[in-house]
Amino acid sequence: MSRRNLELNEVKLRLALRVRYIKSEIRSAKWRILVLAAYAILCWIIWENKYDLLYNESEGAFAYFLYRLDCGALLTWIVVIMLILLRGFSAPLGADQIEKDLIRAGITNSAGEAPILVRKKQDRQNPRILIMEFASRGIPLSRWTERQEAIEGALNVHVDQIELSPKNCRHVILRVVSGDFAFPKRLLWTQDKLASDGFTLVLGETLTGSATIDLSCIPHILIGGSTGSGKSVLLKCLLMQALKKHAKVVIADFKGGVDFAPIWKEKCSMCFDEASLLPALTEIVEELDRRKQEFGEHGIPNIDSYNRLYNHSMPRIIFACDEIAELLDCSGLSKEDKAIIMKIEAKLATIARLGRAFGIHLILATQRPSAELINGQIRNNLDCRICGRADQVLSQIIIGNTSAAERIPKNAQGRFLLPDGTLFQGYIFDEKTELEGLEWTR
Ligand SMILES: Nc1ncnc2c1ncn2[C@@H]1O[C@H](COP(=O)(O)OP(=O)(O)OP(=O)(O)O)[C@@H](O)[C@H]1O
Ligand SMILES: [Mg+2]
Repeated sequence: MSRRNLELNEVKLRLALRVRYIKSEIRSAKWRILVLAAYAILCWIIWENKYDLLYNESEGAFAYFLYRLDCGALLTWIVVIMLILLRGFSAPLGADQIEKDLIRAGITNSAGEAPILVRKKQDRQNPRILIMEFASRGIPLSRWTERQEAIEGALNVHVDQIELSPKNCRHVILRVVSGDFAFPKRLLWTQDKLASDGFTLVLGETLTGSATIDLSCIPHILIGGSTGSGKSVLLKCLLMQALKKHAKVVIADFKGGVDFAPIWKEKCSMCFDEASLLPALTEIVEELDRRKQEFGEHGIPNIDSYNRLYNHSMPRIIFACDEIAELLDCSGLSKEDKAIIMKIEAKLATIARLGRAFGIHLILATQRPSAELINGQIRNNLDCRICGRADQVLSQIIIGNTSAAERIPKNAQGRFLLPDGTLFQGYIFDEKTELEGLEWTR
């Protein structure tokens, strides 16, 4: 196809999209119809009265010629203004610049063409979010997601979500927040943040809402990140919510409990060494076996069904360990100590494999989540991966990509990234205030 034909096709395609856009916009924004109708009426009134407005007898022999000339000018003005109005309605504001910016971000098809912005509007439920819909023109969704950071840079936005339009699979929808929006340094937990449904725990706030994890679907959590990134605070925030939801919480902390205020010892079981940890884990695994047998006898698939069916409140059990790698690191240990660690590891692996249906969960935090320290059976079942501030290697180990190194600033505390690219700020809370008054579920 010649270059001229290609250009002609491009113009045709854009025109067709713009016409479709005008139709849909006029349908969705009634004020535009009113503007167009008012303009049409005004034009009609002016045109009908053009003789009175333009004809001037005092101009003598040329009067009629001048009148005709003025009519021509008037018509030109009417048409030009109408075209300007239609152009304004035919593309979202700033569409051309956005399309150029996307070319800079490398979002082009094999012919080097940019997507066409067909809609831009604010999200009604969350006015912080801008929704942009593009005719993607053969650019696969994967290209958009791969180039997310470049898009953010070029458009000066934070991308919250990239998805195919549910109405038209050739359209891509970007949900973005202005690049000037910044996470607060400290987010204080308040009681109203506690999720009301099931066993959903709130991780923190994203740019557009809250990040949550439903333990009945994704049962185990791994929190990684370099020292001071906020792992212990996030871990405690999740445990606090679990306690509020009447879970039984067992905490292993090999820093001697310095990160846990004394009130934690009043509300949950705490283990500070391997000797006390092994019996605690054995008890959890025995409870798992007991529940397995009971559910099996009644033909019940999981804890939620059990509680619903028998109007019972069998508690979920959370085993949390801050700095799990310290616990599982066998280097330099005696044979006997190694044997204890192996037993601990085996119990953790059992919970990781079987815990979900029986409401038994692991939340593990560590600076070093490498495969040498946390064995495959445990690691592979820690499906919710959360990465705090980290270098590229650590980020890769935790969430399978290096994004945390680029997206979490070096001075950020309590900022975390999920594998799907969701960035969130965790909450801080006053441990005594939040835990006081809660019952210890044994
Ligand atoms: N969500 C948060 N918001 C603001 N500041 C936070 C947040 N979480 C943690 N911090 C700050 O960061 C400090 C370190 O947090 P924390 O002890 O949780 O880090 P860590 O990752 O567990 O470190 P380490 O690996 O050394 O144990 C806290 O004392 C607090 O001042
Ligand atoms: Mg810590």
